[in-house]
Amino acid sequence: MQFDDVILGRRSIRGYKPDPVSKGLIEEIIALAMPAPSSMNTQPWNFYVITGEPLNRIRAGNTERMVAGVPQSREFRTGPGFVGKHRDRQVAVAKQLFGAIGIARDDKEMRQDWVMRGFRQFDAPVCVIVTFDRVLDGAADAPFDCGAVATALINAAWSRGLGAVINSQGIMQSPVVREHAGIADDQVIMKSIALGWPDENFPANAVVSERKSVDEATVFVGFDE
Ligand SMILES: Cc1cc2nc3c(=O)[nH]c(=O)nc-3n(C[C@H](O)[C@H](O)[C@H](O)COP(=O)(O)O)c2cc1C
Repeated sequence: MQFDDVILGRRSIRGYKPDPVSKGLIEEIIALAMPAPSSMNTQPWNFYVITGEPLNRIRAGNTERMVAGVPQSREFRTGPGFVGKHRDRQVAVAKQLFGAIGIARDDKEMRQDWVMRGFRQFDAPVCVIVTFDRVLDGAADAPFDCGAVATALINAAWSRGLGAVINSQGIMQSPVVREHAGIADDQVIMKSIALGWPDENFPANAVVSERKSVDEATVFVGFDE
């Protein structure tokens, strides 16, 4: 696959075939992601790749705690809820996804079902927990570097026919992940990536989210044209 095909064709995958993904292929994808740049080449990232029973325990633990109303416990700084154009974009992609699946605006049950799907890591056969070295906690560089490697990872996955979705839902109940994935104390849990073979019959997988224009995002300085 050409670079442009990967970048322009990739989209978040939220419905998976149950087929397993081999350890060898995941190693290949991680190897393709790890040349990502990082602050002073610190490479603060680490990956816990989880499947089978441990992943099922995480799905169950996440679901149980979310249903019980246990407050979220992320291990990194979070801001207030989105407002203005950021909220508009959040709503726009949710509308696209709900539209694809046929969830009506007032269908609370189906909406709740959809949310719970995220806490189960979209029933993907594999979940990658991205962590970073706790000794670097506090500076924004390490989370930035994790974003770089995570993006490289999902693009590498796409280039091999695999689908993925970076998600916060998988790490909102971090003690569950910490326990069942055996996360080391010297690691901060950053983000979760669901990974597997895309189910082509799952309508939300076809959603192409919108992007603001280059014009909107970019300020050119010192150019003649
Ligand atoms: C930091 C981060 C957190 C995300 N968390 C979630 C999540 O919890 N649930 C979800 O369904 N998608 C999540 N996503 C996926 C985004 O919704 C998705 O990347 C965005 O809508 C753009 O769509 P695309 O990936 O299909 O291009 C997250 C993505 C990122 C980068």
